[in-house]
Amino acid sequence: MADDLTIVQGTKEEQYRNLLPQIEALLHGESNIVANMANVCAALKEQFGWLWVGFYLVDTPEELVLGPFQGPVACTRIKKGRGVCGTSWATNSIQIVPDVHAFPGHIACSSASLSEIVLPWQKNGEILGVLDVDAASYSVFDEVDASYLTKILALL
Ligand code: SME
Repeated sequence: MADDLTIVQGTKEEQYRNLLPQIEALLHGESNIVANMANVCAALKEQFGWLWVGFYLVDTPEELVLGPFQGPVACTRIKKGRGVCGTSWATNSIQIVPDVHAFPGHIACSSASLSEIVLPWQKNGEILGVLDVDAASYSVFDEVDASYLTKILALL
């Protein structure tokens, strides 16, 4: 894998379609999960320019802890069922939030974040954490993101 990503303009689907094989190549041959999570965050941030891309990992039965991420500093711990991340974890469901101010209990790590998507990250039937993506505009995320980010998580 070359060190540089090839970044494309175009529709969201075109951008994901271009990025997916490159992420696959980045992860190929590397078994260290922290390194792979870190590169997934970097690749997504570089292609899409989102505000924040990162993982929160299950640390105790009741709490997530901050994992590899790209973007501004963030809250380090999130309780199960709290905020968008804690809700995604507790309900094992993808949360698409067009306006974070309208999400009850949203945790504002950055006041610049206006919309968000959070996906549970599972391996062998166990939830290891969540992938959280924040954008500085409203209504950025939809089913296309949910579908491609699910595929990217499955590569890990
Ligand atoms: N907004 C998230 C917290 C994490 S930060 O956005 C990085 C939430 O409500 O769970």
